Amino acid sequence: MKAMTVERDATRPCHACLARAAEVKGKTPIDEVTAMEEFIQARIARYSPDEHKKWIEEFKVPLSTGMTFQTLLRYIYENMDPTLSFRDYRCGRGSCNTCRIKVDGKAIKPCATPVGSAKEVLLEPAGTKVIKDLVISYD
Ligand code: FES
Repeated sequence: MKAMTVERDATRPCHACLARAAEVKGKTPIDEVTAMEEFIQARIARYSPDEHKKWIEEFKVPLSTGMTFQTLLRYIYENMDPTLSFRDYRCGRGSCNTCRIKVDGKAIKPCATPVGSAKEVLLEPAGTKVIKDLVISYD
């Protein structure tokens, strides 16, 4: 009899692993599959006016349904780095333009722009007069 080889995606847990995890947590294997999170790698241009220092910082953020770039920045601020500076909601619907930043070189309004299916993005200030991180002066 000939041995059969089954290839599987090594980045995903096998069925036996899911079944074991389900026994431990009292969940079914399908619960474990649907609970697997997707992430976006957000690279953010930081600027510290106190130190006159610029750098790029990376954050791995879990994606959620309908996530906008504003909610992505809020998630980082609330869960990962409370020193991150950006303009939070004013109008919250894309009409006042105060939250403007650049994503992959293109100016957007983060409150009205969904993250979509992007896996990695570069967020930068949308202007040259940077006050701190993504906050620019409108003078
Ligand atoms: S908060 Fe007004 S455009 Fe984003």
